[in-house]
Order: sequence, then C-alpha cells, then structure tokens
Amino acid sequence: MADRVLVTTDDLEHAVRINAQLEGAAYVTAMVTSFDDAREALSGREPDCLVVTGALHEPATARLLAAARDRSVSTLGLVEATEPDPKDLAAEIGLTAYLEKPADPAEVVRMVRRLIDRRRLQQRTGIIGESPAIQEVLVKIEQMAPVTSTVLIEGESGTGKELVAHAIHDLSPRRERPFIAVNCAALPETLLESELFGHEKGSFTGAAERRLGRFELADGGTILLDEVGEIPGSTQVKLLRVLEDRSFFRVGGTQPIQVDVRVLASTNRPLKDAVALGEFRDDLYYRLNVLNIYLPPLRQRKMDIPVLVRRFIAEFARMHDRQFHGITPEALQIIVDAEWPGNVRQLRNLVESMVVLAPQGEIRASDIPEDIRDRGRALPVRVLGASREIAGKELEFIFRSLVELKLQVEELRRRLDDRPAPHRVEVIEVDPHGAPLAAALAPVEEAVLYRPGMSMADVERAAIEAALNDTHGNRRKAAEVLGIGERTLYRKIKQYAIV
Ligand SMILES: Nc1ncnc2c1ncn2[C@@H]1O[C@H](COP(=O)(O)OP(=O)(O)OP(=O)(O)O)[C@@H](O)[C@H]1O
Ligand SMILES: [Mg+2]
Repeated sequence: MADRVLVTTDDLEHAVRINAQLEGAAYVTAMVTSFDDAREALSGREPDCLVVTGALHEPATARLLAAARDRSVSTLGLVEATEPDPKDLAAEIGLTAYLEKPADPAEVVRMVRRLIDRRRLQQRTGIIGESPAIQEVLVKIEQMAPVTSTVLIEGESGTGKELVAHAIHDLSPRRERPFIAVNCAALPETLLESELFGHEKGSFTGAAERRLGRFELADGGTILLDEVGEIPGSTQVKLLRVLEDRSFFRVGGTQPIQVDVRVLASTNRPLKDAVALGEFRDDLYYRLNVLNIYLPPLRQRKMDIPVLVRRFIAEFARMHDRQFHGITPEALQIIVDAEWPGNVRQLRNLVESMVVLAPQGEIRASDIPEDIRDRGRALPVRVLGASREIAGKELEFIFRSLVELKLQVEELRRRLDDRPAPHRVEVIEVDPHGAPLAAALAPVEEAVLYRPGMSMADVERAAIEAALNDTHGNRRKAAEVLGIGERTLYRKIKQYAIV
C-alpha cells in the first residue's frame, strides 16, 4: 500500500507545491485545511507523515502535533525564515523534524521519505526515541544487521541493549534461525562453560546425558552474550577461540565442534575499564568490539522520555484493558526531570504501575511515587538553577566541585570557629540567581560520604553501605538507587566483604 502523507494548507503556496511533488513521488496525499479536518484525517487510516506548512505558534497546531505524536505519526514542520531559534521551536512544539522556508519541495519529499523509513524501522524493532542518540543507534542497527561481524553493545542497565540485540537479529538474514541469549553473570564458571559449549555424558558429576550448548543451539542464528564482562578468565580463553575460528569442544569432549553463529555481546559496565583493571582479556575485547553500539543513559536523552511515556501508557492501557486518557503536563514534567538510574526499564515499570493504580484514568503528579518526585529535586544541578540539561561527565564535575567547595567551606568554618572572632560569617552568596551557598549544598550534604584520606574504593564502599542501609538491605533497590546493575552490586558487596 502506498504511503500516505497529510499536508496542512496553512501556507497555501508551499502546500500546493509540496503536494504536487509528493504525488509525483507516488505518495497518496491529502491537503487538510483546518484543525478539525486534520484531526479527522488522523483518526481515519493512519497517515505515515504529517507536513505542517505554517501556523507553528498556534495552539491548534500544538494540539494537532500532540494528536499526531500519540498515534506515532512523524511530523515535519516548515519554519519561517524569521524564526529566531527554529531548533528550539521544533523541540518545544514536538516536531519530529523541520525545514526552514522557503523549502524546496524535492527536499521536503526526501525528508518525508527518511521520516517514514525511520518510523517503519522503529515499528519493526520497538525501539522508541527521538533523540539524536537513538536515531544514530537505529542507523547503526540497519548498517550492522546484514553482516556477520561481532557487535559489542554497551550501556547502563535498562537502556535497551537486549532490545537492540533482538533488532539486529530480526533485521539480519538470520532472522528465521534461533536467537539465543545467555546471561554470563548468572552462572558459576563450570555451569557457564557447559551452558555455552555443552557437555558430554559423564564429563562431570551430574552430567547424565550429553547436552548441547548454546553455541550449538544457535547454529545458523545469533547468540547474545549478556553481561559478557562477567565471564571468568578461563572461559574467556575458550570464547576467544570460538570467535577466532567458530570452533570449540564440549566439556569433556574431544571432537571440535564447528558452528556458524553471529556473536553479539552486551555489558553494562564499560568493558575497556575491565580490561584496564586486568579483569578482561584485551585480545578478547578487540575480538568483541569489532562493531560497537553505545546506548546512553536515559538522563542524557531526556527528550525521549515523553514519547516513551506516551507509548508505554497506550501499551499498558491496552494490556490491562483500562480506559486511560494519558498524563497531565505537570506529571510529565516531573517524570522528565527525574533521574532514572534504572533507565527505560525503570520508567516502563513505573508507567505500568501507574496505569494500573491511578484512580482518575490519567497520570497526575500525585500518582507519582515520592522517591521519583524527590529524585529530580535532589539533583545539585537544579539547586544551582540550571535549566539546561547537564549530564554525565559535566554532572560529575559539578558534583565533585560542590564536594570540594563544601570541604573548603568546612575548613573555613573550622578556622573561623577557632579564632576568637567578633563577627561570624553566616551565609556566603555564590549563585548568580541568589541561592545561598548553604542552600546549594544542602542536598549534597546528606549524600556526601567523602572525608579526607578516603580512597575511591572507601567512598564506593561507604556509598554501598549507605544505600543498603537506606533500602533496609534490599539489594535490588540499593542497586537501583546507586545506578548500577544488581550483579555489579553483588560483586562489590563480595569484594568489600560488606555484611
Ligand atoms: N528505546 C526503547 N524503546 C522502547 N522500549 C525500550 C527502549 N529501551 C529499552 N526499552 C525497554 O526497557 C526494558 C529494558 O530493556 P533491555 O532489557 O533491552 O535493557 P538492557 O540494557 O538489556 O538491561 P540490562 O543491562 O539490565 O540487561 C525492556 O522492557 C525494553 O523493551
Ligand atoms: Mg539485558
């Protein structure tokens, strides 16, 4: 069926030319003259793309774009040349893409084609997101799917690594063959080897029958080595051999087994760090890292949050058979502002619980659990009054600077206290927006664990103990709070012998 494109007539001259060009490129088009017209067209057979030719500041356009978004229809807006910041405007009203006027109709058609292709890919893979990072991931998936090279997928827990691995398999020529995921962190060494490579009858106590390993079961298809960084040293050597010549021995076996398997590997801690620490072989790292996909944490691509929330609401409302209207702007803002250490998984789980529990048939601010509401507020970045998104390294830098600043202030206080000073300094203003330093430091104060003389390991240990204390020993929650995987937490608890 031909792709269908709606064109609004807000700018009639552009609309007519674009419409003709689209028809020439074999699209089925419809020109919509009013908001109601457009809304009706959207509720019929779903269009694949909506081109908005003008009136971008009108409230009716904002409503139309929201309706398009809710149906996952991509939108392309034509922005006036006089618009001071077209990128900001596009982000504000939620356009998928924009072009500046005067827009060349051929360029519009090219852009429409790209948007429709991308939408298809997102529908096929289930990977949602408008951020440049996710768009780049989608492009990489398309490029990497047809080949057999190994792909290393990196990203924090819950960022979508398994989803990406599935997508690569589903778009590859191997899609009719098995996709097998092995969690390398879940099993002790001997069991992991037998899981991966299989075993011969009687090869160890309990091996009553010959058993095929995951590599053999995945023959012709794809294997995902999940949490590959946790593979013990001796198994790493065996894996290296499989990657080099696609052959291995079953545990207790003497005949090499040859397989045709595409290997994907994922890890939620940077594998390079594990190599630097001597925990992971560098030759294996290079074998795995032929191609690489990195999924940034959700807090670094906040623009994906609204579309994820809307999609999850629709999905769970359907699944739980609930009449659900959506989410209030205030509630959505709180969700966008929160930290999401558990990334998309945490967001998805929360939306599900709210869809089930929200009494009003829509998510309101009061339906959001307190810890999520507070997490956004507890960020030192917000206390400083920064409105732009500050993430990752920058955030860490600010945090460290605040810690240092706090130590200096403490030192200063100590010195002042030691002096028989006639005047005491109460508040020092540092923030241009007028927030006193003491207030700026307040949320950090509770969290700061550093004392002079502590090593990084001491700080880490203290942070883990504090988190476990806070969560009453619930390791899953503690891991979530700390923004690390549960298995990483287990490893560290063992490493630091925390009881
Ligand atoms: N971009 C996305 N669009 C839609 N759903 C997503 C996206 N990213 C993640 N999800 C969903 O979030 C959940 C977690 O994703 P996934 O299991 O792929 O994460 P992961 O990176 O493998 O996590 P872990 O390291 O803990 O194994 C899944 O339900 C997945 O469908
Ligand atoms: Mg996973």
